[in-house]
Amino acid sequence: MALAAVILAAGKGTRMNSRLPKVLHPVAGRPMLRFVLETVAEAGTDRMIVVTGYGAPMVAAAVAGWAEVVIQEEQLGTAHALLQAEEVLRGFAGDILVVPGDTPLFRAETLRAFYAFHRKEGAVATVLTARFADPAGYGRVVRDEAGKVLRIVEHRDATEEELAVNEVNTGFYCFDPGIFSVLKRISPANVQKEYYLTDAVRLLREDGLPVAAWEAPDPEEFLGVNDRRQLAAAERIIRQRVAAALMDGGVTILDPAVTYVDPGVVVGPDTVIYPFTFLEGETEVGADARIGPWARITDSRLGDGVTVQNAVITGAVIGEGAVVGPFAYIRPGTVIGPRVKIGDFVEVKKSVIGEGSKVPHLSYIGDAEIGRNVNVGAGTITCNYDGRQKWPTIIEDEAFIGSNTNLVAPVRVGKGAYVGAGSTITKDVPPEALGVARGRQVNVPGWAKKKVRE
Ligand code: UD1
Ligand code: CA
Repeated sequence: MALAAVILAAGKGTRMNSRLPKVLHPVAGRPMLRFVLETVAEAGTDRMIVVTGYGAPMVAAAVAGWAEVVIQEEQLGTAHALLQAEEVLRGFAGDILVVPGDTPLFRAETLRAFYAFHRKEGAVATVLTARFADPAGYGRVVRDEAGKVLRIVEHRDATEEELAVNEVNTGFYCFDPGIFSVLKRISPANVQKEYYLTDAVRLLREDGLPVAAWEAPDPEEFLGVNDRRQLAAAERIIRQRVAAALMDGGVTILDPAVTYVDPGVVVGPDTVIYPFTFLEGETEVGADARIGPWARITDSRLGDGVTVQNAVITGAVIGEGAVVGPFAYIRPGTVIGPRVKIGDFVEVKKSVIGEGSKVPHLSYIGDAEIGRNVNVGAGTITCNYDGRQKWPTIIEDEAFIGSNTNLVAPVRVGKGAYVGAGSTITKDVPPEALGVARGRQVNVPGWAKKKVRE
């Protein structure tokens, strides 16, 4: 049987107090709607349709390439939202899986088990339920004496007795295509004056049709995100899952509660991650590395045995055995070779640094190409900007740059050349030469005593 998933994502998310549509709020680095789409796709559906409304262009852009989009011009409730998919699903002869866009923690295998149950039961509708210790805010599942689902009552419309029920509606349902005609019979006769999708359950039961319910084995997967507290709770759960998977793969994480790794980040075995480390975006770290404490690494590739401490690394490649930090800033377009040392208070931007070279202290290296086994003395600055444009600095293999040197680009220091400390180099230094560019020292004998007599 074909299966189409309709993802409800038109709401503003009033309780977020945000201009950003709720479903685009990031969880562990990416929009919560992305988690929903990825997991639904993983579960295996034939079509995915996202109902957009509030911030529709933004939401549509976020799901482009993933799903079809329909628009709910006015957000009149979840039943009205699902109805917006009727048109695109005309002629679709399959089951309809409804998924809320604000519930990012569910797993693909859970969704598959739910759908298998729906098929086996032969129901026209199956509700996915969960038991929460604190069901506040959720719709409650009301069952008859035989244990069959009668209806779902929203928290705001519930009686005292109904509020005591801790089995909640997760907002996930499976329907047969007959659902659309049922949706048209729903009225907004409730506290919120909305067309509640939950009312479909009651109507189908009144029609004498079979409605089933399936309780999720792990309720945590169905925590909804309606406000920023729930957003933080979802964030924590995703982070815990990512950390657990890394640890199972052989990575030591000293304190997962203060380690922030985005899903999709790859880390090799026997790497140790110290507290207050962020590994974000498309990042890969090799084996036997030491990362942190205090590191923020984004969209970067780090080789085996790399050491990083108190550093910000973005869009860079760091070769095996290299040491970065403490207190270093590595910016996009930088490629650091194997066994390079980038020390304290060093900023490197869009530069290539060859194997075994050292930039140990207090330097700015921008738009530079540095060869192998180069030593860049403390306080060296590449003056790459002339006020209008950026220029390159080239330092060839085995060169030695004395401390406190300014390299005014464009400039080249040849292979094995030396630059005297304190120089401001404006002309190329040939290979093997010594370049010195500073005032000569003058010693005035007895000057101090004379000064005292004055
Ligand atoms: C809904 C359910 C509730 C369930 C809970 C589970 C209803 C009436 N209530 O409540 O029983 O326990 O989810 O988390 O269905 N949306 C639209 N268009 C609309 C309204 C909502 O697309 O007009 C979307 C929202 O963007 C959201 C989802 O539907 O992604 C759920 O809406 P929300 O307002 O969060 O419903 P809840 O109050 O959480
Ligand atoms: Ca919700």
